[in-house]
Amino acid sequence: MDYLIEITQKERMLYGENLILLEGSMREFLSCMDMIRKYQKETSGWDPVASCSARIKKADSMTEKLKRNGLVPTSYNAIHEVYDAAGVRLICPLIEDVYLIVSLIRQIPGITIRKEKDYISHPKPNGYRSYHMILQFPLRFLPAGFACDVPWLEIQLRTIAMDCWASIEHQLKYKKDISNSELMQQELKRCSDEIASTDLSLSTLRELIAASEQGKEKEV
Ligand code: GTP
Ligand code: MG
Repeated sequence: MDYLIEITQKERMLYGENLILLEGSMREFLSCMDMIRKYQKETSGWDPVASCSARIKKADSMTEKLKRNGLVPTSYNAIHEVYDAAGVRLICPLIEDVYLIVSLIRQIPGITIRKEKDYISHPKPNGYRSYHMILQFPLRFLPAGFACDVPWLEIQLRTIAMDCWASIEHQLKYKKDISNSELMQQELKRCSDEIASTDLSLSTLRELIAASEQGKEKEV
């Protein structure tokens, strides 16, 4: 699968030659994910990933974040002192697919996991649900003389339903002129809870379908 990773002159200026490491590391991770998906589809008949996207953090957004954290906006600080210069988002059909992918990622040889945050079991107070991992993916080629070592990747995993909520919430966050913001927050939280309950119902449906198919196989 081909992934479009948008990079402009501004990102080239900020990240410099480390951009090669950031992009390379994401592409190697994505290629590994493609293989995991193909294997799962082949062996179980179910693709645990509905869609996948990757991005390099925009230079303006990274510069602002580094300054906010009291850091000088250098290429080194951008890829070593914060952890989301390179980000991959994996959208899964169901909750159990998220946890399956998390366990398979943990098993990738040579991977270093720095942090995991389970906002699915422990949603944020606003209703945000997602599973986050910060990791280093082993690079097959690390050019000699590069000052930096393997960069961090931020992986976000969530269901299609959770992604729907997060995308809308993200857009609303930037619309600061909205009145009734308290009511809006309550509604967002309510939507998040309803989405969580829908996710559970969808998982149950899938289990029922699987059980019925197994029953048919036994009859034959
Ligand atoms: P940064 O937010 O990246 O500075 O790091 P953090 O330490 O707060 O990490 P966290 O794991 O909480 O969030 C990392 C990323 O998850 C964010 O940059 C967003 O992309 C996403 N995220 C976290 N919270 C929310 C939320 O409430 N709504 C939405 N839409 N996205 C969120
Ligand atoms: Mg971030």
